[in-house]
Amino acid sequence: MKPSFSCLFFFFFLLLCFLHCVTSSIARQRDALNKFYFNNEAERSSSSSWASSLLSVSGLESKVYDNSGLKEGDKVVLLPGQPEGVHFDQYAGYVTVDRANGRALFYYFAEAVENSGSKPIVLWLNGGPGCSSLGYGAMEELGPFRVMSDGKTLYRNPYAWNKVANILFLESPAGVGFSYSNTMSDYSKSGDRRTAIDALVFLVNWFERFPEYKRRDFFITGESYAGHYVPQLAHAILHHKDHLINLKGIAIGNAVINKETDSKGTFDYFWTHALIADETIHAIHKFCNFSPDAPLTAPECDRAVDEANLAVYELDVYNIYAPLCFLSGVAPTPKSPSIENFDPCTSNYVETYLNNLEVQNALHANVTKLNYTWSGCSQVITSWSDQPSTMLPIIHELLSNGIRILKYRAIDKRIPSADHHQLVPNDHSLLAIDRPRSMGDQLQHHPTSRVQLKQGQVKVVAGGHELALEEQRDNGANETNDLAVEKEGQ
Ligand SMILES: *[C@@H]1O[C@H](CO)[C@@H](O)[C@H](O)[C@H]1NC(C)=O
Ligand SMILES: *[C@@H]1O[C@H](CO)[C@@H](O)[C@H](O)[C@H]1NC(C)=O
Ligand SMILES: *[C@@H]1O[C@H](CO)[C@@H](O)[C@H](O)[C@H]1NC(C)=O
Repeated sequence: MKPSFSCLFFFFFLLLCFLHCVTSSIARQRDALNKFYFNNEAERSSSSSWASSLLSVSGLESKVYDNSGLKEGDKVVLLPGQPEGVHFDQYAGYVTVDRANGRALFYYFAEAVENSGSKPIVLWLNGGPGCSSLGYGAMEELGPFRVMSDGKTLYRNPYAWNKVANILFLESPAGVGFSYSNTMSDYSKSGDRRTAIDALVFLVNWFERFPEYKRRDFFITGESYAGHYVPQLAHAILHHKDHLINLKGIAIGNAVINKETDSKGTFDYFWTHALIADETIHAIHKFCNFSPDAPLTAPECDRAVDEANLAVYELDVYNIYAPLCFLSGVAPTPKSPSIENFDPCTSNYVETYLNNLEVQNALHANVTKLNYTWSGCSQVITSWSDQPSTMLPIIHELLSNGIRILKYRAIDKRIPSADHHQLVPNDHSLLAIDRPRSMGDQLQHHPTSRVQLKQGQVKVVAGGHELALEEQRDNGANETNDLAVEKEGQ
């Protein structure tokens, strides 16, 4: 079965946006990834056998609360500093996911610019764990607006995903951004399982609040540690089909999905980009065993890993060619905004903007007066209790249930250290999709853009940037082939 081209174009649009959108949000996202993923030794041994059946929610019915009439109250009349002439609707607010504990998740929803009534709905999740989809995804990557260097004014993102879909950003789990729990002990119970279950409860309630979106084509997308969140949530949805969420596909970018290869690939990436010494990588190859079943790590391995981490310490390893930010707070003199020229201090501006009380009121955020400030990655989640070492079994299950999967990554210029697919074969046969009409506008800046397809892999070559992705075909696909890159990708 051939992948449907309309679906591919949809994803390509999103991807091309990404060439402009992926910013180095980064230092803190990376710190979170390191803290809870790569350095999470305590979890390593116990986590490989995490049963996906843990994601079925007993008594989901009892968590479907009355959402009638809440939608209108969530409508965002005007975001402070937003540009003139915004012709799409925005909503933001809280959805309770656990009434007894007082746990509520915050969302921001940007409806499609045109024909929102027939466009699909896309949920976006940032990773971390513990980083905000509002701060990073919506305000720095794919949302309709970006924040100017004054931390007060917004400007349009010409590559916003809400040009092709209705986009829902969820701050997840509780403790991230504006999402909270009134029961402090909830924060120390954060983990993959609770994140997925709360996100499912959120969605079911959100669809009650926005019933016109029930049964609409639904996609879940995300990046980095959302390589865990996205397939897990998809799995949870599959196991609660009665709730009429019309899940069609998922997309994960620069995702962590398999700890062993993610870890090894990180160091190989450092080495192939001349960031660490030959001796260091040789020692890592010789002494490190990143398998979840490995016995205790050898001291030689620890030493080599420390050396490697020290060597890249000063860099933004998510984008090794990017400048770093040396400002704290907003820019003293305003800079003219530019989508093309990435400003490494963007997250400072976003943090200033979202901590503005006027902005919080406009977004219906922080209604309980939390006693800490909004920050890009959570300051209240201090541990992560469960984390399977691989998503591959869930990914296989999704494929066999006809869920379309797109796994994409930026190579070279904008690669995250966590991505283990550095070496992309160059022998793709060119499929002649040269400047396809439907994407003409988006391709203007990339006169050399073309798309290559081979064996279920898709590669987008665009001007000076390069971005590659795999497209998992649906049912008829040969899953062995499609996931092969996963397994050999070092
Ligand atoms: C915030 O409030 C919680 C619960 O009321 C309390 O446990 C915590 O110590 C407070 N944190 C700060 C920084 O005041
Ligand atoms: C919530 O509001 C309080 C009071 O205005 C403020 O001090 C706090 O920084 C805010 N917290 C967040 C997470 O927005
Ligand atoms: C899928 O591809 C692999 C590797 O080429 C091959 O061994 C396997 O038999 C194929 N499976 C199917 C169902 O075609």
